Amino acid sequence: MEKSILITGGAGFIGSHVVRLFTRNYPGATIINLDNLTYAGNLENLRDVEKHPNYHFIKADICDYEQVKTIMAEFAVTGIIHLAAESHVDRSITDPFIFAKTNILGTLSLLQAAKEYWKNDCHGRLFYHVSTDEVYGSLEHGGFFTETTPYDPKSPYSASKAGSDHFVRAFHNTYKLPVVISNCSNNYGPCQFPEKLIPLFINNIRHNRPLPVYGRGENVRDWLFVEDHARAIDVIFHNGKIGDTYNIGGFNEWKNIDLIKTMIKIVDRLLGRPEGASEKLITYVTDRAGHDLRYAIDSSKLKNELGWEPSLQFEEGLEKTVRWYLDNQPWLDKITSGDYQKYYEQMYTF
Ligand code: NAD
Ligand code: TYD
Repeated sequence: MEKSILITGGAGFIGSHVVRLFTRNYPGATIINLDNLTYAGNLENLRDVEKHPNYHFIKADICDYEQVKTIMAEFAVTGIIHLAAESHVDRSITDPFIFAKTNILGTLSLLQAAKEYWKNDCHGRLFYHVSTDEVYGSLEHGGFFTETTPYDPKSPYSASKAGSDHFVRAFHNTYKLPVVISNCSNNYGPCQFPEKLIPLFINNIRHNRPLPVYGRGENVRDWLFVEDHARAIDVIFHNGKIGDTYNIGGFNEWKNIDLIKTMIKIVDRLLGRPEGASEKLITYVTDRAGHDLRYAIDSSKLKNELGWEPSLQFEEGLEKTVRWYLDNQPWLDKITSGDYQKYYEQMYTF
């Protein structure tokens, strides 16, 4: 039987790369992108795949249990890759409620729909939950997060993702729902909403705007190119062990201030400015409340068991990313003005 795969959050940053990879690599499968197009969902990310005969877009809210159940039956869904979420830590500090609603209740609604729809036959079915390394909390200067690191979320965002991970495991334990979870480090690459560090700073450097560095810029993140994350999801979806968790990361830790200076160098070079000219834009601002010091992922289980490794060196990936944002200024202009939401009205309202 051909697979019918429901991908939630497919109009977002990572989701759009996952939808593209699955639509192209599995032409015999039906790929359903379910997204309610929040500020972070942009169908223009998927222009190149929207005409594929195996691709379907449905505007729906994952919290709408009845609609999710109907969609599962309509498309005879055999697998779910769940990425839809509220994803920005700063927003979670300002408005934690929407994070609990989307990330916890939304995941619960999908789990319950999958359990009900697959109740008579779970064979060959899979609920794949995409999560973050932030559920493990914050590291000091040594050590890595492994799959057995106890959960210790510290922001409303990571608390809501941890809550969703717990529900996924509870459904596996209680109802034998076939699930798999992955926890990935910070992603970077094309089509990321310019509220996150890398696209925000590339855009600000280009326009000579201040670069707001939280605290002293000493925090450390472990960066992975988004297409490598999408490839890892593909590998885990097809070969991961049911009930297991896989950490995904590139062993690529950067202190924020070092990363920012590297981005400045690349942008200045590509724009023909003197080296380091934009360093004057660095502006130290009040630290993020409860700012996690360091994330670092040990992804050796994924490498040893399923053979996945990152394909890009960071310097190469970062240069590719900077070039993409510099070459796609209209994308940034539309997304920052909210104009991209008109695209949905033109494309999908009849
Ligand atoms: P994003 O914010 O770019 O995209 C989220 C998508 O979900 C958007 O298209 C949005 O419209 C959709 N969405 C939000 N609420 C919805 C709802 N109620 N119903 C249907 N759709 C809804 O997020 P992202 O950065 O692409 O992250 C995707 C997933 O990966 C998230 O679950 C996130 O926790 C996880 N993750 C992200 C990173 C990262 O660095 N960005 C790292 C590890 C894990
Ligand atoms: P971000 O991209 O928001 O990802 P996360 O908080 O999920 O890791 O931020 C990455 C790092 O950059 C984090 O340590 C916070 C910092 N940061 C700034 O210093 N200034 C900014 O304007 C932003 C958005 C982030």
